[in-house]
Amino acid sequence: MAALKVLQLTDLHIAPRAGELMLGIDTEAYFRQTLKHAVDQHGPFDLALLTGDLAQDPCVDSYQRISRHLSAFDMRCLCLPGNHDDFDLMRIYLNSGKLGCDKRLVLGNWLIVMLNSQIIGSPVGMLAEAELEFLEGTLRAHKRLPTLLAVHHHCVESGSPWMDAMRIRNSAAFLALIKQHPQVKAVTCGHVHQAFAKREAHIELFATPSSCFQFTPQSDDFSLDDTPPGYRVFRLGEDGCLQSEVFRLPIRMDDLDRNAHEY
Ligand SMILES: [Fe+2]
Repeated sequence: MAALKVLQLTDLHIAPRAGELMLGIDTEAYFRQTLKHAVDQHGPFDLALLTGDLAQDPCVDSYQRISRHLSAFDMRCLCLPGNHDDFDLMRIYLNSGKLGCDKRLVLGNWLIVMLNSQIIGSPVGMLAEAELEFLEGTLRAHKRLPTLLAVHHHCVESGSPWMDAMRIRNSAAFLALIKQHPQVKAVTCGHVHQAFAKREAHIELFATPSSCFQFTPQSDDFSLDDTPPGYRVFRLGEDGCLQSEVFRLPIRMDDLDRNAHEY
């Protein structure tokens, strides 16, 4: 069996109405370009992971439009919520055909686990006790399967204090749990709107760029970056080895409102 190819798209920030701009840009148009670029350049994919902040101000229409864009490609997709999302709406409107919000999936000989780090009404991340129990039970039940975890918020410092104030509040408990499970190969997140790759013990920790605007790395305060939208591609080998790479759209962000002070 060839390696599994998995796409990660994150932080779409789709507006309630089509054509509405955010920070000067049409986030939906950028999402469509990013999705098309990924599939054209690196597809077909065995799976796509959408790791939160799919909608900016969640409503039925924004999720229906996301569903339409994804359904245009014959690709299995799993979605998890970010701080901006409404997971109840997601589970209704991102749940047809090959699109779903399942929290775990066995794909080939790999296990994919989708975690919910949302505290409703807060931008800060947290893995509730029930979420950690679900994770532990799932890992115990699939000890032999190499595992990729996906979650919206980051669990290690990114180097930007304003962003790190929002990281998973109980990261220490989360990391202590997954370090006890040698089959966990990597954790991938969104939220930070930039790429990073770090390591804790045997586990690789990735962050993936947004499909719209990016934040300046190593910044004390909110700051937009010129870097174009991007995505991450994983290759999950049958032998449990994992490779990943970030790709970006070959464009300039000329329309971005660089004077914006928040999002
Ligand atoms: Fe976020």
